[in-house]
Amino acid sequence: MTSEQRKSFGSDNHAGAHPAVLTALAAANIGDATAYGDDPLTEQVTARLCAEFGAAAAFFVFGGTAANVLGLGLMLRPFEAVICAESAHLNGDECGAAERVLGSKLLTVPAPGGKLTPDLIASQLAGRGNSHRAQPRAVEIAQATEVGTVYTLDELRAISEFCRASDLLLYVDGARLANAAAYLDCTLADLAAHADVLSFGGTKNGAMGAEAVIVMNEPLAAAMPFQRMQLMQLASKMRFLAAQFGALLQDDLWRANAAHANAMARRLAEGASAADGVEIVRPVQANAVFARLHPRHIAALQHDWTFHVWDEDDSVVRWMTAFDTTELDVDTFLADIRSTALREPHGPGLAHSG
Ligand SMILES: Cc1ncc(COP(=O)(O)O)c(C=O)c1O
Repeated sequence: MTSEQRKSFGSDNHAGAHPAVLTALAAANIGDATAYGDDPLTEQVTARLCAEFGAAAAFFVFGGTAANVLGLGLMLRPFEAVICAESAHLNGDECGAAERVLGSKLLTVPAPGGKLTPDLIASQLAGRGNSHRAQPRAVEIAQATEVGTVYTLDELRAISEFCRASDLLLYVDGARLANAAAYLDCTLADLAAHADVLSFGGTKNGAMGAEAVIVMNEPLAAAMPFQRMQLMQLASKMRFLAAQFGALLQDDLWRANAAHANAMARRLAEGASAADGVEIVRPVQANAVFARLHPRHIAALQHDWTFHVWDEDDSVVRWMTAFDTTELDVDTFLADIRSTALREPHGPGLAHSG
C-alpha cells in the first residue's frame, strides 16, 4: 500500500461521498427543477426528514458551522448568550462564526468528557436579570461530542428538563448525530425529542456537503427561510442537497454508515490498546479514538499515516474512522502502530512524561 492509498484516520471529512449519494445526485440531475427548494424532491425529502425526527420543519444547508449559526440564530436576541462546553466545536473550531454572525456571547464551561450537565449549565446563570451581563438563553451541546463521547438518553433528558424549567432553549449540534444514534441504538426522534432545534450532519456520514437544520419547537421555524437566505445558505439548486439526504434516509443508510464507522473505531481502539506504549484516553463511543503515545511514536506513524495530534502537550492523538474505513484499513494501521512502537530507539511502552 502506498501512502496515497492509505486510508486517512484524520477525519470523517477526509472520506469521499457514499456511492448511493452519488447515484442519487446523478438521478436528481435528470431534467430541470424549480430553484430554491420549490421542487418535488426537496419537498419529499424534507417531509421524510420531518417524519424521521418528529419535527415541525427541516431545512437543508451546506455546512455544519452554518447549521449551528442558523439553528442558534432562531433562538437569540442580540443581548442573549449561549452556554456551551469549552471544548465545543462551536467555541473552538468555527472561527468565532456565532460570535461574529449572531453577535452573541458564548458562555463557556470546562466540561469533563466534553459533556455539559444541569449543574454546569446552572453555574452560568448567576447574571440573569443583571443588565450588565449577557443573558443566557440557549444551551448548546454536541451529540456526539467533539471528543467522541455520546450523551445517554437519560443525560439528554436531564439537560432538556433543566432547560425547560430554567427558560433555556436547547440546541444540539448533530454533525455526528448518526454516530450517536447508532451507538445508543435509538431513533433520531429519540434524540431530537430533547432539543428545540438540532442539526443533522450528512457530510460526515457520506454526503458531500449537505447538512440539515431540524426544528422541533414549531414557533422557532418561522424565521428560518429568511435567515437562511440572508446568511447565504439557501441553495439555488436545492434538489442536490435533498437528493443526498434522500439517499442517506433510504433503508436507513445513515445508520449503517454510522454503525460501521463506530465499529471500525472500536476495532482500532481494541487493537491499539493491546499495542506497546498506546493508552486509549477516552471512551470510544462514536467514531473517534483518542490515544496517548510517545511523541516519537507519533512522529514515526505520521510518516505514512494521516491523523491529528489533538493535544501536543499531553501527546494525545485523534484517530477517526468513516463510513468507508475497512477492516483491512484498520488492521494495516494497527500493524504499523505495533511495528513503529517496536522501532522506538528507547524501547516500547514508554509512558509520556510531559
Ligand atoms: C461537532 C462538529 N460540529 C460542527 C462541525 C462543522 O462542520 P463544517 O466543517 O461542515 O462547517 C464539525 C466539523 O468537523 C464538527 O465536528
